[in-house]
Formats: sequence, C-alpha cells, structure tokens
Amino acid sequence: MAFPIQRLRRTRRTGALRGLVRETELAPGDFIYPIFVAAGEDVRRPIPSMPGIFQLSINHAVEEARRAHALGISGVLLFGIPDEKDEAASGAYDPEGVVQLATRAIKDAAPELLVVTDVCLCEYTSHGHCGMVDHERREVMNDVSLELLARTATAQAEAGADIVAPSDMMDGRVGALRAALDADGFEETPIMAYSAKYASAFYGPFREAADSAPQFGDRRGYQMDPANAREALRETALDIQEGADIVMVKPALPYLDVVRRVREATDLPVAAYNVSGEYSMLKAAAQNGWLDEERAVMEALTGIKRAGAEIIISYHAPDASRWLQS
Ligand code: PBG
Repeated sequence: MAFPIQRLRRTRRTGALRGLVRETELAPGDFIYPIFVAAGEDVRRPIPSMPGIFQLSINHAVEEARRAHALGISGVLLFGIPDEKDEAASGAYDPEGVVQLATRAIKDAAPELLVVTDVCLCEYTSHGHCGMVDHERREVMNDVSLELLARTATAQAEAGADIVAPSDMMDGRVGALRAALDADGFEETPIMAYSAKYASAFYGPFREAADSAPQFGDRRGYQMDPANAREALRETALDIQEGADIVMVKPALPYLDVVRRVREATDLPVAAYNVSGEYSMLKAAAQNGWLDEERAVMEALTGIKRAGAEIIISYHAPDASRWLQS
C-alpha cells in the first residue's frame, strides 16, 4: 500500500506543534472596546439585548476604561447617550457634551489608553438619523450635516480624543473632518473611518443601547447595501483620498470577504467592527447552553483577524483578553 507523503496531522498532534505552526494569534492589544456613556450621576443601566454591557455614567465609564487598560486592551470607543436630544444634535458638539466630558475623565485616569470617539449625530438627534433632516422631503441632507460632524470631531479632539471615528456615512465627511481638524490645530489627530459601513440588521441591539433608532424611514439612503463588495472598495479608496488614517469594515462576521478585499486593496491599517448583534447572537446561544462561549467567541475573533483586520472593535474585548491571559 502507498503511504501519504504529506501528512497534515503530523503538525496537529500536540499543543506545542499546533502553536508552532499557528498562523493567526489574537492579543489584547488588537482590541478596542466600545463603551456607552450616559449623562447623569451613578448610572449603571443594563442593556437587555446585550448581557454584560451597560449604559454607564462617567464615573463608571472611567472604571470600565481602567479595567480595559489593565487587561492590555488598546483603546475604548465612546458613544454618548445624552439626556436631551434635539433637531440639530447639539449634544454631539457641545464642549460639555457627555462624550467630551468622558474623554477628559478617561484621559486623566488612564493616559495611555487610547480614547476613540464616535463621530455621528444619530445618538443626539430627536429623529435618530445620522445627519440633519429635511422633514418635508424626508431626507437626510448631506452637506449641511458635514459642518456639524466636523464641529463634533473638533470638540472631541479638543477634549483629548486620540482618534476620531466618523460612522455617519455622509459623502465627503472624512475630508470635511480632516480640514476642520487641521484648521483648529489638530493636524496630528488620526481619523479611523467607518469606510464600508453596511445598512445592517445587526445594529439592532446597539440602537436599543444608544436609543438611536431612526424615528422614520431607515438608514439605507446612506449606509451601504449588504449585497455590494466592489462598492466597499470605492468607499475605502475615497476615504483614503480624503485623508483617512485607518479604514474600517462594519459589521465584521457577515462581511469577512469585504475585510479581506479591503486588506488586499490598501496598505493602511484595517479595522473591523464586531457589532452589537454579533455579540448578542453568541451571548444568547451561550446563555442557552447551545454554544461554548469562550471557544465560539475566540473562533469568531480569530476569523476576523485571519480575514485581515489588525484592529478589532468588540464588546467581547474584556472577556477575550482575560481568556488570552489565562
Ligand atoms: C452610529 C453607529 C451605529 C453603530 C456604531 N455607530 C448604529 C447605526 O448606524 O445605526 C452600530 C454599532 C453596533 O451595532 O455595535 N451611526
């Protein structure tokens, strides 16, 4: 009988052999951990669809950020939950807005932890859209929104944000942010652009967490159609032309082909956002005893890195970092 010459099982036999030939290794430093910062004092409100995740007032957000830093996580991504919303999203660019205050507090408490701020209006608008709305035409106005997004980014940079991350998907926002930041003396503040951000059902739990569901219509007029991958390359190329320093694909798991294509199309750092619904899915299955949580989460995160993302934004970041250390 003929014996196989190549036997792949030879290097799978022991943990040491598997470790030697392992191609992809996660580390806590790969992660950015999203935090929902709520206005008010001493708030620690659970988000029902995201077990383990809370709306936190600034004092608790600072503690959570400290814990993330102690675990070796690179940064936190801040989303604001203001106590008042209005037509013009004034909480987004108010120098005393909740994200600006939280940024200052976290930079004081853990100066080495990166503070990344979400640049978007939907958490602050009464109508829940990511830009200014023309109510008669029921449309989100692009160019008017750019001014407010730019003001938001400079207010965040002013407060000490290490990176600003526009997630609104208006055309031209990266260029608008870059110009405004440069004009205000923040030419060293990097932009992590949500370049290929899809109109996804997987943001459902986030919208509950941030109370940011659109009051009419949906986001398909500005976020991408899930069916398109070439268009993601156009979005990415445009953001790079406009000055993006890091590009992002979002969500992650249903779009790993896009992560791979973006990775191959650019030499910029690539981030992937493992979004709220992806977190909730695994949590729900684990809580039902249907999946082994640690193994499923680590496999999902490894897949995102293997696809080509060197930066992973994930609500699993603290658990994953703990598992990596033990
Ligand atoms: C704001 C924004 C959203 C997410 C990040 N920034 C929601 C949306 O576009 O509706 C989703 C993140 C998540 O689901 O974890 N525009």
